[in-house]
Amino acid sequence: MAVFQLPSLSPEISLRFTPRPLDFSNRRRTTLFRPLSAIGDSGSSEPDSESQNRMFILGMGYVGGFFAQQLKEADWLVSGTCRSDTKKKEWEKRGIDLNLFSADSPELSLIDSVKDYTHLLISIPPSAGIGDPMLRNVELVRDKLSGGNLQWVCYLSSTSVYGDCGGAWVNEDHPPNPKTQSAKLRLAAEEGWLSLGRDLGVSTQILRLGGIYGPGRSAIDTLLKRERLSEGQKKRASRKFTSRVHVEDICQALQAATEKLPSGEIYNVVDDDPAPREKVFEYALELIETRWPGTIETKPFPFVYESREESSLRGEKRVRNEHMKNKLGVKLLHPSYKSGLQSIIEKMDNPF
Ligand SMILES: NC(=O)c1ccc[n+]([C@@H]2O[C@H](COP(=O)([O-])OP(=O)(O)OC[C@H]3O[C@@H](n4cnc5c(N)ncnc54)[C@H](OP(=O)(O)O)[C@@H]3O)[C@@H](O)[C@H]2O)c1
Repeated sequence: MAVFQLPSLSPEISLRFTPRPLDFSNRRRTTLFRPLSAIGDSGSSEPDSESQNRMFILGMGYVGGFFAQQLKEADWLVSGTCRSDTKKKEWEKRGIDLNLFSADSPELSLIDSVKDYTHLLISIPPSAGIGDPMLRNVELVRDKLSGGNLQWVCYLSSTSVYGDCGGAWVNEDHPPNPKTQSAKLRLAAEEGWLSLGRDLGVSTQILRLGGIYGPGRSAIDTLLKRERLSEGQKKRASRKFTSRVHVEDICQALQAATEKLPSGEIYNVVDDDPAPREKVFEYALELIETRWPGTIETKPFPFVYESREESSLRGEKRVRNEHMKNKLGVKLLHPSYKSGLQSIIEKMDNPF
């Protein structure tokens, strides 16, 4: 077997992927968008109050980053937050200005900037002992955002809020029953943002995401990096059902959600195939073997079986996505991990 070493994955890898431009042509605009570069020229970092489409992404992570690139290609003004100077500089090179923001020492003056944006996407997960960093000071945030330009708020949540459903199919009407601390904080954050959105009178949506994968973050990447599966991953591998969704499909759902004005809607954003992780890794290995025969050592996956208590804490469920398809009109690009992984490997440079 050939031994190979991959360079460590950086955010560059996920950003190398060129997303499909969004078609926002059916969106009414009253004025033309002013590009970021023009703002740089005028020496001001404030968005043009005349422009219509301006997205602020609290937490420019994996999903936020993909969506930001698509929005930028569709001429939206985009900004957001991250926690490190290095990341801020990387985004500057791509023409997106970020603010440094950490839940541990939140700078709430940030909200003064947010109120100039028309759209707000929240992608920062709640932290233990803190919850959602913005909702900790909800009165202040409400005061500052009232009377601003905000029209739309979307919170990226997780299907973990359903808790254990004994493997049953669940849709958005299924009462949430979070078991883990992080899932309880998620549900509290959902409720907090819905309530804040109501108070502000802006369209507010919740997207409950399954396990996120895509370029730079997939079973193929894990195998190519020859990473040992973490204990958590090994245990999740033994579950019967794992809901997942490709980042391109999350971006489709987000794009469609920006067009929806009815407020308070919750959408599960998952694919059609809640297959066990073990199957996904087997398929990823098959794809690597086909594309680069003999280059990767075939290894058995050391899956660990969860105890009954652990399994019920994490929760077995199959998550339905009809609401996303019917109400948002999303046609999944990757209804199963198979097409998702295929598209990832097709776009990959030779890693050897
Ligand atoms: N991964 C999954 O499979 C999955 C499944 C369901 C839901 N979700 C949730 O969906 C959302 C988007 O997922 P993702 O994979 O795109 O997330 P991600 O890549 O981890 O990005 C999260 C973003 O939040 C920021 N952030 C994290 N902790 C923070 C803190 N304590 N204070 C301030 N900022 C903080 C990160 O800052 P930096 O940029 O500085 O790192 C990053 O920009 C997240 O809320 C995630 O938890 C994830």
